[in-house]
Parts: sequence; C-alpha cells; structure tokens
Amino acid sequence: MSTDPVVVSHAQGSYPVYVEPGAISHLGALVLQHLPGRRVAMLVDETVLQLYRSGRLGPGEWSGETLTFPAGEQSKSRDTWARLTDALLERGFGRDSGIITLGGGVTGDLAGFVAATYMRGLPYVQVPTTLLAMLDASVGGKTGVDTAKGKNLVGAFHPPVAVIADPLTLSTLPERDYRAGLAEAVKHGLIADRDYFEWMETHASDLIQRDPGTLTRLVRRSVEIKAAVVSDDEREAGRRAILNAGHTVAHALEQVSNYQLPHGEAVALGLVLECELAEQLGLAESGLHHRVSRLLIRLGLPDRVPAGIDRTALIGSMMADKKNRGGQIHFALPATLGRMHQLHGWTTAVPDAAIRRVLALSNAG
Ligand SMILES: NC(=O)c1ccc[n+]([C@@H]2O[C@H](COP(=O)([O-])OP(=O)(O)OC[C@H]3O[C@@H](n4cnc5c(N)ncnc54)[C@H](O)[C@@H]3O)[C@@H](O)[C@H]2O)c1
Ligand SMILES: [Zn+2]
Repeated sequence: MSTDPVVVSHAQGSYPVYVEPGAISHLGALVLQHLPGRRVAMLVDETVLQLYRSGRLGPGEWSGETLTFPAGEQSKSRDTWARLTDALLERGFGRDSGIITLGGGVTGDLAGFVAATYMRGLPYVQVPTTLLAMLDASVGGKTGVDTAKGKNLVGAFHPPVAVIADPLTLSTLPERDYRAGLAEAVKHGLIADRDYFEWMETHASDLIQRDPGTLTRLVRRSVEIKAAVVSDDEREAGRRAILNAGHTVAHALEQVSNYQLPHGEAVALGLVLECELAEQLGLAESGLHHRVSRLLIRLGLPDRVPAGIDRTALIGSMMADKKNRGGQIHFALPATLGRMHQLHGWTTAVPDAAIRRVLALSNAG
C-alpha cells in the first residue's frame, strides 16, 4: 500500500482503514497480515460476490471459503445471522478463525455481528464496497441486525481489525446508493470541517463522475472526521451525537414514507430542514440551509420533501425516537459550516411549534 492508513482508535485499541484505489488487489496479503494463522471465511451478499468473481470490483483473487446471503436490508436479520453461524459451526470453524466482510453496510453490520458473537467473538477484516459503508458504516465498531420493532435493535460494539476501502470498487454502484454516501459526506463537512465542505463545492462535478482521485480524497477525509468524532466518544455519550445531524428528520421521513424514501435522500432533506430549524432558533448563521441545499442539489440529491408526506406524522415519529427525553425532540444542530452548536451538550431540545413552523415553511408538496 502506498499511502498510510487512517487509524481509528477505540476503547480496546485501534485499527487501520486503508483508503486506496486498487487496494482490493492486496486483499490476500492484508488478510494474512491482519488475521495471521487463522482459517478465514468471507461473508458476502450474492450481488457483490457475483461482481467480485467476475472481476468487476477489481481482481477477485479470494479463493478461500465463502458464505453468502441475498443482497438487501431484509438479510440484516436474526434469521440470516442464525443461518450464517450455523454454517460456520457445520464447517467446523473454531475460535481461531477469522472473517472477511465484503460488501455494503448491510454486510458490514450483519457479518460484523456474526464476528462479534461467533465463539464469543472473532477478529474480522472489513472490505466496504459502497460509499456509505466506506465513509460511515466501517468506522465506529457498531454491528447488529434489525428486528420487527425497528432497525439495529440487536447488536454489539465489535470493531474490525482492519478496513480495506478501494474507491475503484464504487464504479459499479447504483446511482441511488452512490448518492446516499455523498449525503453523509456533506454531513461530515457541515458538522466538522468547513474546508472539506468547500472542497466538495469545488469538486461537485468530479464527484458526480466518480473520479477515482477525488473519491479517494472524499473517503479519506470523511473517515478521518468520523474516526475523530467516535474516538473522542466511543460509547455515544457526548460529541458523537453530532453525527446524528440531519438524521432526526431523516429517520422520521424514512418511517413516514414507509421506507420508500432512500436513506441518503432522507438525510439530504434532513440536513436542509435541520439547518433551517437552527437558523429559525437563532443558533445558526442565516443562509446556511441555502448553501447546504445548493451543494446537495449539485450532487443529485433532493431538497424538497416529497408530496404526500404527512407533517403531523413526521412530528409524531420524531417524538417516538428513542433519543428523546422529557417530551421534547432533541436535535444536533449546526452553528455554521464546519461547527455544531454546543451549549448544554451537543443536542438541543426544540419545542414542537418551532419544528412545525419549519416544516410548514419548507417548500414541500
Ligand atoms: N454500523 C454503522 O455505523 C452504520 C452506519 C451507517 C449505516 N449502517 C447500515 O448500513 C446499511 C446500509 O448500507 P448500504 O447502503 O451500503 O446497503 P447495502 O449493503 O444493502 O448495499 C446496497 C446495495 O448495493 C449492492 N452493492 C454493494 N457494493 C456494490 C458495488 N460495489 N457495486 C454494485 N453494487 C454493490 C449491494 O448488493 C446492495 O444491493 C443499513 O443497514 C444501515 O443501518 C451502519
Ligand atoms: Zn446516515
């Protein structure tokens, strides 16, 4: 590898995130280095395995044991977890084994949870192949599965021993999935780094075209930002809350749309509305939401809440969010580009009326 990895630290140690075009061709060597002497299984969804085997993600050199499951969020379940752990048991994998997860955030979370629990925990190397997985899901050590009562409700903290992010693998990613990752990158600029935000403004068209050099810088800077925030705060007590920017509204939009609105689009809308809310409350400089929405639009993301989304239901969904205390909705709100508002902590309780006002003002359908 020709560049130094980003190092992510956590309560039990640290791990490298290699961000480099072509990194996937070093998979065998990196696995030997990070899982020495272990019998290794690769866990991968069927779509990604097909791309990998056909060489479309780069040289598909991994010829070791492989376990698969169908692509998609519905695989992030206890059923799939049970099937995968049973398969490992049947094949006789012991506590001296290791795991490679190859794929998007679903694979990282699911296979990471298999690694967290199998024989009370195996080391694993994460190979993210979606933009969201590279710059968001692969940093922070959260693994888990969904339940009928909600997403990510059963899981564990289990950081990987290494992450191998190869931006060239993103050339085959569907447009919507690609844009979802860009929305999180815009969030990273907004919450922590004005220069990064402005760099995205300058390079928006290179980003749309997935220029490898530009993408490498994007993934690297986003990983650095998320790593810095979670290293500060491995257990979500304080500053980590800023990563939730845009997401209070986004989760409500996803829920009220019955998950028809993709996460990235919901995050884009959430960022704009929450900036507007911060401006209305006098916490953020005026015009911030215009600037954020201009960048999001240039990156192919929406700035209008789709018609048919019920405002009352949106507020109801925010009220039900597990992060609320004392009957008020708590938001991580920006102060300016690159800096979040902080007064008594990193979140602010906002009265319903202020939220209603912003929702009524938003040029929604
Ligand atoms: N652990 C965390 O901190 C964290 C953070 C954010 C999101 N997540 C989780 O991540 C999940 C979403 O991740 P995602 O958007 O990557 O979804 P995903 O893993 O379902 O991937 C999206 C689709 O892209 C396909 N795909 C993957 N790589 C590809 C490639 N290079 N080319 C073409 N197709 C490819 C997959 O097969 C899948 O169909 C959610 O479950 C979310 O909860 C976790
Ligand atoms: Zn998100």
